[in-house]
Amino acid sequence: MIPLLTEIFNSGKVFDEQGRSYDLHSHTRPEQCAFLQKIIKEIKPKRSLEIGLAYGISTLAILEALSSTSNQFHHTIVDPYQSKYWHSIGLEYIKKSGLGEQVTFYEKFSFEILPDLCKKGERLQFAYIDSTKVFDILLVDFFFITRMLDINGVIVLDDCSFPGIRKLARFIAMHPSFKVLDAFGADKNSMKRKMLFSFDNGMIKLIPFKKKMFPVHNFKTDNQLNVDYHCIAFQKIGEDNRNWDWFEAF
Ligand SMILES: C[S@@+](CC[C@H](N)C(=O)[O-])C[C@H]1O[C@@H](n2cnc3c(N)ncnc32)[C@H](O)[C@@H]1O
Repeated sequence: MIPLLTEIFNSGKVFDEQGRSYDLHSHTRPEQCAFLQKIIKEIKPKRSLEIGLAYGISTLAILEALSSTSNQFHHTIVDPYQSKYWHSIGLEYIKKSGLGEQVTFYEKFSFEILPDLCKKGERLQFAYIDSTKVFDILLVDFFFITRMLDINGVIVLDDCSFPGIRKLARFIAMHPSFKVLDAFGADKNSMKRKMLFSFDNGMIKLIPFKKKMFPVHNFKTDNQLNVDYHCIAFQKIGEDNRNWDWFEAF
């Protein structure tokens, strides 16, 4: 890990351009940074995207890994609150990393920027989503990223323990163009949820013609879908050839 990142993790403090310090929070943990770096080193993306800059912790880790695989990379970041809530510290750290020339930052919501990137024909091989926990916003992000992502490209979702993000993870797990490539951090709540879910499922299993009665319910557990993790990497394994009336319960 680069000295700047190690220093931030050790001190638990971040500094703005004027040298004022703030407590580190809401960041990607060191072990998860290492997980992102491992994936990047495997797939060697040339063009990547990150949604959610904050104090720039995951960004520093991603930039370190990207620059170790090639000097021909470009990383795009989107965050509407960088100056308003995060004192522009993420941008300050990008400058300090010396890799600012290979970064484009938009101080906008993801749903304002992704349609434009898509229209411009942007291509991606890696995306990290660590932003809102609101299902429909993330679904829209996924929709646009999917269109820009090359085959074998990877989308990593953070915070999959949140119900809205878990629901999205279940949807992607059922999507024929994606597979779970890797995951990090067993879900802390999963034991309790697993017990409740298996009780629910146990009851539902007793119902005759349940699939006909609940056609939009997927009876598989998070564990069976391999999505009972905190952070999940999905790999695009094929183009989207679904019929107009495709639907899989998730
Ligand atoms: C958990 S923090 C990101 C932490 C960062 N990845 C790190 O490791 O330091 C979430 C960030 O998402 C941003 N955010 C929230 N909604 C967003 C959206 N719709 N588009 C882009 N960024 C968003 C917030 O401003 C915040 O900076």
